[in-house]
Amino acid sequence: MRAKTINHAAPTTAFFNGAGPTPAISAQIQRSQSTQSPEPNSLTATQSIQPVLRSDYQPPAYWIDNVELDFDLDPRETLVTARISVRRNAQQSSSTLDLAGENLKLQSVAVDGKRLEQTQYQLRDGGMTLLDLPESCVIETKVLVSPVTNKSLSGLYQTSGNFCTQCEAVGFRRITYFLDRPDVMTTYRVTIRADKQTCPVMLSNGNRISQRDLDDGRHEVVWEDPFPKPSYLFALVAGNLKCHRGTFTTRDCRNVALEIWVEPQNIDKCEHALVSLQKSMKWDEDVFGLQYDLDIYMIVAVNDFNMGAMENKGLNVFNSKYVLALPDTATDEDYMLIEAVIAHEYFHNWTGNRVTCRDWFQLTLKEGLTVFRDQQFTADQTSAAVKRIDDVSGLRAGQFVEDSGPMAHPIRPESYISMDNFYTATVYRKGAEIIRMYHTILGAEGFRRGMDLYFQRHDNSAVTCDDFRAAMADANNVNFDLFDRWYSQAGTPELTVSEAWDAAKGEYALTMTQSYPPLPGGNPGTEGRKPVPLPVRVGLLDAESGEEIEQHGGVVMLQTESETYTFGGLTAKPIASVLRGFSAPVRLRMQRSNQDLAFLMAHDTDSFNRWDAGQTLATKLLLDAATGVKNGEKLKLSQEFSDAFGRVLSDDSVDEAFKALALTLPRESVLGQEMDVIDPDSLHTARQFYRTRLAETFQSELTALYKNLAADGAYKNDQKSINRRRLKNVVLAYLSALETPESVSLVADQFNQADNMTDKQAALSLLANLDVPARDEALTAFYKKYQSDPLVIDKWFAVQAVSSRADTIEQVKQLTTHPDFSVDNPNRVRSLIGAFTQNQVRFHQADGAGYKLLADYVLKIESANPQLAARLVAAFNSYRRFDETRQTQMQNELKRIAEHPGLCKDVHEIVQRALHF
Ligand code: TRP
Ligand code: ZN
Repeated sequence: MRAKTINHAAPTTAFFNGAGPTPAISAQIQRSQSTQSPEPNSLTATQSIQPVLRSDYQPPAYWIDNVELDFDLDPRETLVTARISVRRNAQQSSSTLDLAGENLKLQSVAVDGKRLEQTQYQLRDGGMTLLDLPESCVIETKVLVSPVTNKSLSGLYQTSGNFCTQCEAVGFRRITYFLDRPDVMTTYRVTIRADKQTCPVMLSNGNRISQRDLDDGRHEVVWEDPFPKPSYLFALVAGNLKCHRGTFTTRDCRNVALEIWVEPQNIDKCEHALVSLQKSMKWDEDVFGLQYDLDIYMIVAVNDFNMGAMENKGLNVFNSKYVLALPDTATDEDYMLIEAVIAHEYFHNWTGNRVTCRDWFQLTLKEGLTVFRDQQFTADQTSAAVKRIDDVSGLRAGQFVEDSGPMAHPIRPESYISMDNFYTATVYRKGAEIIRMYHTILGAEGFRRGMDLYFQRHDNSAVTCDDFRAAMADANNVNFDLFDRWYSQAGTPELTVSEAWDAAKGEYALTMTQSYPPLPGGNPGTEGRKPVPLPVRVGLLDAESGEEIEQHGGVVMLQTESETYTFGGLTAKPIASVLRGFSAPVRLRMQRSNQDLAFLMAHDTDSFNRWDAGQTLATKLLLDAATGVKNGEKLKLSQEFSDAFGRVLSDDSVDEAFKALALTLPRESVLGQEMDVIDPDSLHTARQFYRTRLAETFQSELTALYKNLAADGAYKNDQKSINRRRLKNVVLAYLSALETPESVSLVADQFNQADNMTDKQAALSLLANLDVPARDEALTAFYKKYQSDPLVIDKWFAVQAVSSRADTIEQVKQLTTHPDFSVDNPNRVRSLIGAFTQNQVRFHQADGAGYKLLADYVLKIESANPQLAARLVAAFNSYRRFDETRQTQMQNELKRIAEHPGLCKDVHEIVQRALHF
């Protein structure tokens, strides 16, 4: 890919205006062109990498009133003609206009119909500068792009033979020269011409206004989007696709056509996505009064996609993983994720599209808010408690790690080299936690008032995080000035809580202190950090009866470094439940006895804290056990924990999904965070010991529960059945840890008899950990059955990559030579290499073989797909947390990558941050 030029030896179908340049003219245009746009992502020796700074924001020199785009689609040579009507920004006096453009083969540029001479414009790295422009004019550019060789999946590319675009964050400049920045919003009219045979379907944003056949076997369609939008929301899709249709009637009784476009063989897998979309549309009307605004809403599923999905106006493009589902191919978790991602992209129509970001530093304005909205949606569809636990587990496993390493950044970053590197857990998930705090403080109604004011003030404009915060504050007459710190400071605050009981006065006091653990490396957002506003939801429980002491429950606001909150009128020392519902994104530090934790596990009325007490207790004991392993001690299952586990197991008052979570031990990656030096081997041994000993201790209860849960008859997809399967598979995992012939055949039987992917995959993952003939039998059978379904084959790769078997690295290496493995497909790379990096004990194998494997693949992928490679290489970001041998090994791999000639800037940025941390 790097420094390549598009091959023009055989121009094929680059026609425009019905006539267009003959190959001869086309060649002439090229010869007259002095500068080639270099591959933007690679670094030449002379090119230095300048970060973009938030503080450098300047409004654009010109605005764009409208744009007309013409596409003559061709795999190797697509001709893109853009006519943009520009008008000088009244606040600026410059007659110079910089247009962004990357990997474009310029054919011509004209202003108000007059072709420009080379002296009238300059081509430079990453764009074109036009000089001496009038106050308003029409700029017409013609460029050639090559979709089939574009493996970066940014700009216009081909996937499974279809054309598709991805423009966020800065992919539009790989399609045409433009003011490719989110504060330049304009209306689009898009004409697409393509071969009728290979591209029967041609889609873009908005409404289709005309369609006709051309006389050369091609056809033409015109789309018009009435809503002004930034370029990152542009989309074009063309190819051989089939449509699953539905409708939605808005509250104002407008009919909206819903269309889900997929490859023909997938047409039977779209109903769940359609229903999810209808539910999302209804929910946004009910909860936020937000209705859809066009007459058509399209979703296209593609196999090659760097992220989950993209909210292009009226034409979402999705990773097929988040669209396609049948019970035989998708797990309950997949169904849930599809519903959540469909909702997320739909909710962007208001939070992101109608109101968008002024600049990319404001990304959390749309992402944090939209994640919060999709979380609330899922909570309403399923169980709020379980959803909260799942989300906080994800935050702790992903965002907390990011926020304590080289990529630590505020939810509104101060600088970036590649914006694509800042689509992070911090911007998305921590961003959503900040929004949740407004909601916690203001209540649902106050939050809604803030949202209403936000749309009233900012509809159809590009704004900042400060604008959102102001709307929340002004609508409720509160002061959110201190919340600014949440946007400018990196790192996870620690909330230390101590208690005091004054028996004579009947007073119980909680002293809360906040601080930031130091972050080395001087990352932006870590200097001079100040206390942040923390809404801490607290409850007191009667230590005798276990009942809630109602008058003392509520939210306290900690706005300073330290505060003491006193609760009076008590006759005995209560048990406090602190940070209920995880009301602020902090690490809670509170010395608690094992008895208190066991008490909260049994009695807390707040489900989140009930679960969290169990996790805290398990963490303490597992860390002790890991130390024991290291010191060669004989391990023993804690009686307290065993008792607590038994109580959860037999508690019939909780729903089965909650019970599944409460019975699950913290993941090794979350446990590791609590160690001074992460010791993956001792941790793994300790956790395995606990799993096995718990299974032995409760073998008969677990066996009975498994039978009881399994005897549910035929497959059903309702919430009750989903919860049941979730618990059943947690129970099966314990039984499988027994590793007896009986337990192996139990797992194998479930694998063989399962009538749904949830049960099948659960059994397969358990078998994948074992060294028994049933393992290979199952893997072979699974592959044979699903070999034509790439999303299921992704699962087949992933279960092997996350196996705890000692030979996992060898297996992963072997799998990279499998005919179905391909570095061009991000889902496949993530399912093998990405999944492997999440396998803490095997990725961090002491001899460094896992590290070498990752570095080799980063280097294999980086030039073709910088975004994907940069995500993979981030697995090294925690290297400072390991022992010296591992640190050195990882550091050496980072250096090897850093020294790679022409390394793409995405990987460069991650690796340099890591090396200088
Ligand atoms: N805006 C998308 C979302 O969160 C994210 C996204 C999709 C994206 N594709 C991308 C971000 C490519 C960067 C690059 O819904
Ligand atoms: Zn989003």
